[in-house]
Amino acid sequence: MPAPDSQLEPPAQSFEAAALEHLTAAAVQAVAAAATAADLKAARAAHLGERSPLGLAGRAIGGLDPAERKTAGLRLGAARGLVADALAAREAELSAAELAARLAAERVDVSLPADLGPVGAPHPITALMEDLGDVFAAMGWEIAEGPEVEAEWMNFDALNIGPHHPARAASDTLFVAPAESRLVLRTHTSPVQVRSLLSRPLPVYIVCPGKVYRADEFDATHVPAFHQIEGLAVDEGLALGHLKGTLDHLAAVMFDGVRTRIRPSYFPFTEPSAEIDLECFVCHGASADDPSRPCRTCSSEGWIEWGGCGVVNPRVLAACGIDPERYSGFAFGMGVERTLMFRNGAADMRDMVEGDIRFSRALAGVAR
Ligand code: DAH
Repeated sequence: MPAPDSQLEPPAQSFEAAALEHLTAAAVQAVAAAATAADLKAARAAHLGERSPLGLAGRAIGGLDPAERKTAGLRLGAARGLVADALAAREAELSAAELAARLAAERVDVSLPADLGPVGAPHPITALMEDLGDVFAAMGWEIAEGPEVEAEWMNFDALNIGPHHPARAASDTLFVAPAESRLVLRTHTSPVQVRSLLSRPLPVYIVCPGKVYRADEFDATHVPAFHQIEGLAVDEGLALGHLKGTLDHLAAVMFDGVRTRIRPSYFPFTEPSAEIDLECFVCHGASADDPSRPCRTCSSEGWIEWGGCGVVNPRVLAACGIDPERYSGFAFGMGVERTLMFRNGAADMRDMVEGDIRFSRALAGVAR
C-alpha cells in the first residue's frame, strides 16, 4: 500500500473518544494561551484549520464504514464545537481587553485648561462706527447705507456741487471707467443724504457710517480709503440750534465732556455751513493763551477740526422733491479715523489699515 498523500488522502484518524478529547484539550489550551489577535489566528489555523488534526479528521470521515461514520461524525462535531466556542470566547475577551487598552490610552482629561487658538478682535474703526451709530440709535435715529461705487449725480450734482464747482476737483475724486458710466468711488458719505431723502418718508433722521475714497497719498495723516459718519435730520422747524445740541451730545458721549465750538465755513450742500471743532485733548486750549506752552497737536490753536456741518441747503431739498418752504434740516459729517485719533490717541493712520492684531487688541478695550 502506497504511503498516504497528506494533501489528497488524509492519514487514517482515530475517532476514539479519548483521542478526540485529547485533541480538544490541546486546542482549548492553545486558545486560552493566545495573548493577541495574531496568536488567536494562529491557534485557529493550528487546531481548527483544514490541515489541523481536527480538520484532517473531518476529511477522513468520508472514508469510514457507514456503520462507524455516524458516531465518528457526532464525536468530531462535538469536539470541533468545543474548540469553536473556546475561540469565540477568547476572541471576545481579547477584543474587550484591546478596547479597554485603547480607551485608557486615548483618555481625555476634560478638566485640563483649554488650549485656545489666537482670537481676533473687532477692528477699532468698525467698533467705533458701531459706537457712533449706537449714540444716534439711542435717540431714535435710523442707520442708513449707500453704495461705495456711486453715481456722480448723487455724489456731486444733487448736493449742489455743479459740473465746474471747485469742490469737485478739490476732493480728488477717483472716477470709475468708462467715463460714460458717470460713476465715482464716493468721496464722502453725503450722497446718502440724497438717497435717504429720495427713498424715505419724512421726517428723516439718519446716520450713515461708511467707507469713502479719495486719490490721496498714503501717509501718517492720509489714507486713500477712509471712513466718515454722515448725519441728516429733515423735519418741520429744524434749525441750527438743533444741530449744535445734537453734536454737543455726540461729543459729550464720545469725548467725556470735552468742549465743542462751531465756526462758519462753506459747503455747497449746507447754508449756512460750519465746521465743528473739539477742544484740544492735549493742551485743553492752554497753548492758545500761553505762547510759552506750544502744542503740536492743535498747532497752538486750542481747537481741533472734527467735521463739517450746517443747515441743509434748500437746493438739496428741492433736488429731492421736498418743499423747502415747509421742511428744513441739518446735516453733519466727520472722519471716523480722526475721531479714533482724538478719542484713543492713535497717532498714525497707517496703523489703522495695516491690520495688525496687536493694534486692534490694544484699542478694542478702549473703543468699546
Ligand atoms: N461731506 C463733507 C466732506 O467730506 C463733510 C460734510 C460737511 C458733511 C458738511 C455734511 C455737512 O453733512 O453738512 O468733507
